[in-house]
Amino acid sequence: MSSACEKCHRYTIGSFYQKGDHVMYTDKVMDHFQNPRNVGEISNADGVGEEGNARCGDIMKLWIKVENGRIIEAKFKTFGCGAAIATSSIITELVIGKTIDEAEQISNNAVAEALDGLPPVKMHCSNLAANALQKAIDDYRAKVKVS
Ligand code: FES
Repeated sequence: MSSACEKCHRYTIGSFYQKGDHVMYTDKVMDHFQNPRNVGEISNADGVGEEGNARCGDIMKLWIKVENGRIIEAKFKTFGCGAAIATSSIITELVIGKTIDEAEQISNNAVAEALDGLPPVKMHCSNLAANALQKAIDDYRAKVKVS
Protein backbone atom coordinates (compact mmCIF):
# COMPACT_ATOMS: atom_id res chain seq x y z
CA MET A 1 0.00 0.00 0.00
CA SER A 2 1.33 3.47 -0.78
CA SER A 3 -0.03 6.90 -0.02
CA ALA A 4 1.19 10.45 -0.48
CA CYS A 5 2.58 12.49 2.38
CA GLU A 6 0.38 15.48 3.19
CA LYS A 7 3.46 17.67 3.62
CA CYS A 8 5.65 16.85 0.64
CA HIS A 9 3.29 14.74 -1.50
CA ARG A 10 5.93 12.05 -1.99
CA TYR A 11 4.75 8.49 -2.18
CA THR A 12 6.28 6.04 0.21
CA ILE A 13 5.62 2.42 1.17
CA GLY A 14 3.04 1.75 3.90
CA SER A 15 4.98 1.24 7.11
CA PHE A 16 7.61 3.88 6.27
CA TYR A 17 4.96 6.48 6.17
CA GLN A 18 3.06 8.15 8.96
CA LYS A 19 0.27 10.44 7.82
CA GLY A 20 1.57 13.99 7.47
CA ASP A 21 4.74 13.18 9.35
CA HIS A 22 7.61 11.38 7.63
CA VAL A 23 9.17 8.58 9.58
CA MET A 24 12.90 9.26 9.57
CA TYR A 25 15.23 6.36 10.20
CA THR A 26 18.87 6.53 11.29
CA ASP A 27 21.61 5.17 9.01
CA LYS A 28 21.99 2.25 11.40
CA VAL A 29 18.31 1.33 11.11
CA MET A 30 18.54 1.48 7.33
CA ASP A 31 21.71 -0.62 7.36
CA HIS A 32 20.16 -3.37 9.51
CA PHE A 33 16.94 -3.24 7.50
CA GLN A 34 18.74 -3.56 4.16
CA ASN A 35 21.45 -5.98 5.36
CA PRO A 36 19.89 -7.89 8.26
CA ARG A 37 22.37 -9.97 10.28
CA ASN A 38 21.78 -13.53 11.47
CA VAL A 39 18.66 -14.28 9.45
CA GLY A 40 17.46 -17.88 9.62
CA GLU A 41 16.76 -20.66 12.09
CA ILE A 42 18.85 -22.77 14.45
CA SER A 43 17.66 -26.37 14.09
CA ASN A 44 18.96 -27.56 17.48
CA ALA A 45 18.26 -24.31 19.34
CA ASP A 46 18.32 -24.22 23.14
CA GLY A 47 15.61 -21.56 23.28
CA VAL A 48 12.96 -20.25 20.90
CA GLY A 49 10.78 -17.20 21.38
CA GLU A 50 7.98 -15.87 19.23
CA GLU A 51 6.30 -12.52 19.61
CA GLY A 52 3.55 -10.88 17.65
CA ASN A 53 2.29 -7.34 17.62
CA ALA A 54 -1.49 -7.35 17.74
CA ARG A 55 -1.58 -3.72 16.55
CA CYS A 56 0.10 -4.30 13.20
CA GLY A 57 0.17 -8.09 12.82
CA ASP A 58 3.98 -8.28 12.63
CA ILE A 59 5.68 -11.42 13.97
CA MET A 60 9.23 -12.22 15.06
CA LYS A 61 10.73 -15.59 15.92
CA LEU A 62 14.13 -15.80 17.62
CA TRP A 63 16.34 -18.86 18.16
CA ILE A 64 19.26 -18.95 20.61
CA LYS A 65 22.06 -21.45 21.12
CA VAL A 66 23.59 -21.45 24.60
CA GLU A 67 26.90 -22.90 25.80
CA ASN A 68 28.03 -22.69 29.42
CA GLY A 69 25.34 -20.13 30.16
CA ARG A 70 26.44 -17.87 27.30
CA ILE A 71 24.58 -17.22 24.03
CA ILE A 72 26.88 -18.33 21.23
CA GLU A 73 24.44 -18.04 18.34
CA ALA A 74 21.18 -16.19 17.64
CA LYS A 75 19.05 -16.18 14.52
CA PHE A 76 15.72 -14.68 13.61
CA LYS A 77 12.89 -14.63 11.12
CA THR A 78 10.63 -11.60 11.09
CA PHE A 79 7.58 -10.75 9.09
CA GLY A 80 7.23 -7.06 9.67
CA CYS A 81 8.06 -3.44 9.01
CA GLY A 82 11.53 -2.01 8.42
CA ALA A 83 11.95 -1.14 12.10
CA ALA A 84 10.91 -4.68 13.09
CA ILE A 85 13.55 -6.16 10.74
CA ALA A 86 16.23 -3.75 12.00
CA THR A 87 15.46 -4.35 15.69
CA SER A 88 15.42 -8.12 15.10
CA SER A 89 18.80 -7.93 13.40
CA ILE A 90 20.45 -5.73 16.04
CA ILE A 91 19.18 -7.81 18.96
CA THR A 92 20.94 -10.88 17.57
CA GLU A 93 24.18 -8.87 17.53
CA LEU A 94 23.53 -7.59 21.05
CA VAL A 95 22.94 -11.03 22.58
CA ILE A 96 25.70 -13.07 20.97
CA GLY A 97 28.49 -13.43 23.55
CA LYS A 98 26.31 -12.38 26.47
CA THR A 99 25.37 -14.57 29.43
CA ILE A 100 21.68 -15.40 29.80
CA ASP A 101 21.46 -13.01 32.78
CA GLU A 102 23.09 -10.19 30.78
CA ALA A 103 20.86 -10.83 27.74
CA GLU A 104 17.79 -10.68 29.95
CA GLN A 105 18.64 -7.08 30.85
CA ILE A 106 18.26 -5.94 27.21
CA SER A 107 15.20 -3.71 27.11
CA ASN A 108 13.32 -2.35 24.13
CA ASN A 109 14.96 1.03 24.85
CA ALA A 110 18.40 -0.59 24.69
CA VAL A 111 17.48 -2.10 21.33
CA ALA A 112 16.38 1.29 20.01
CA GLU A 113 19.52 2.97 21.40
CA ALA A 114 21.74 0.41 19.68
CA LEU A 115 20.18 1.58 16.41
CA ASP A 116 20.90 5.23 17.31
CA GLY A 117 17.21 5.69 18.00
CA LEU A 118 13.84 4.98 16.45
CA PRO A 119 11.13 7.49 15.55
CA PRO A 120 8.61 7.71 18.44
CA VAL A 121 5.86 6.17 16.30
CA LYS A 122 8.12 3.17 15.71
CA MET A 123 9.22 2.57 19.30
CA HIS A 124 6.59 -0.15 19.71
CA CYS A 125 8.40 -2.17 17.01
CA SER A 126 11.37 -2.63 19.37
CA ASN A 127 9.06 -4.49 21.79
CA LEU A 128 8.85 -7.29 19.26
CA ALA A 129 12.57 -8.03 19.55
CA ALA A 130 12.87 -7.52 23.32
CA ASN A 131 9.80 -9.69 24.03
CA ALA A 132 10.87 -12.45 21.63
CA LEU A 133 14.26 -12.51 23.38
CA GLN A 134 12.62 -12.79 26.79
CA LYS A 135 10.47 -15.68 25.54
CA ALA A 136 13.52 -17.45 24.06
CA ILE A 137 15.29 -17.09 27.43
CA ASP A 138 12.20 -18.39 29.28
CA ASP A 139 12.10 -21.35 26.89
CA TYR A 140 15.81 -22.02 27.48
CA ARG A 141 15.36 -21.88 31.26
CA ALA A 142 12.36 -24.24 31.11
CA LYS A 143 14.37 -26.75 29.04
CA VAL A 144 17.37 -26.56 31.39
CA LYS A 145 15.11 -27.20 34.40
CA VAL A 146 13.55 -30.26 32.76
CA SER A 147 16.83 -31.88 31.69
S1 FES B 1 4.75 -1.70 12.46
FE1 FES B 1 4.58 -3.72 13.27
S2 FES B 1 6.42 -4.05 14.32
FE2 FES B 1 6.67 -2.20 13.29
